[in-house]
Amino acid sequence: MLRDASSANAALPATKFTRFTRKTALRALYCRRLIGRIAAIPGDVVECGVFQGGSLAILGLCLRDAGQSRRLWGFDSFRGFPEPAPQDNRSKAVRGRCAAPESAARDTIGQILGQDARDLDVQLVAGFFEDTLPANPLPPIALLHLDVDLYESYRCCLDHLYPKVVPGGVIAFDEYDAGRDRIKWPGAKRAIDAFIAETRLKLERDPLTQKVFCVRV
Ligand SMILES: C[S@@+](CC[C@H](N)C(=O)[O-])C[C@H]1O[C@@H](n2cnc3c(N)ncnc32)[C@H](O)[C@@H]1O
Repeated sequence: MLRDASSANAALPATKFTRFTRKTALRALYCRRLIGRIAAIPGDVVECGVFQGGSLAILGLCLRDAGQSRRLWGFDSFRGFPEPAPQDNRSKAVRGRCAAPESAARDTIGQILGQDARDLDVQLVAGFFEDTLPANPLPPIALLHLDVDLYESYRCCLDHLYPKVVPGGVIAFDEYDAGRDRIKWPGAKRAIDAFIAETRLKLERDPLTQKVFCVRV
């Protein structure tokens, strides 16, 4: 028997997804495609810029759905942004913005993956990248997902982590020039452009989200 829509919706737990992450369904599909691209590439998945764990949990979900058993790393200060650089838009890039505790990211992973969260090998590393990345002996990386908004943060992540990305591995940039990215996060584009000029890698664009990524050759 069909129930009316309002009573059926009242019982749906699916609203948790939108409650615990602001990321869109398109972004989830994009993450799925990124995970699909690295199916045959050895290495871990590393995210820099975790905040409340939205994209980290989606990446975990995609790994589980793809049957890929890899360690998932999440680096963040969990205290928000550091001091921005002159390359950043100072009205958006404010010290301490996007602060959320590590427990919020763990909660999001638990909410989105449910019981399967126990099987996910997640390593959260708290601290500013400038301190944690040089000190962390990370293994080879198959997917590097960068969502760090700021010029110096992108530079630091790329300087320390690009050498660990294996050939065929993917480096994905959450902000570049899609939507209002150029206005909100101009430092991100500057850092990525400098990286592309140095490495001569080819930027590719995801048609779903207009986000850009490159594949290490
Ligand atoms: C846009 S948020 C990440 C959003 C997250 N990926 C999501 O799906 O909701 C950017 C994050 O980068 C972190 N961040 C930026 N620069 C940092 C730095 N130098 N060291 C550590 N964390 C940094 C901030 O603390 C913030 O949590």
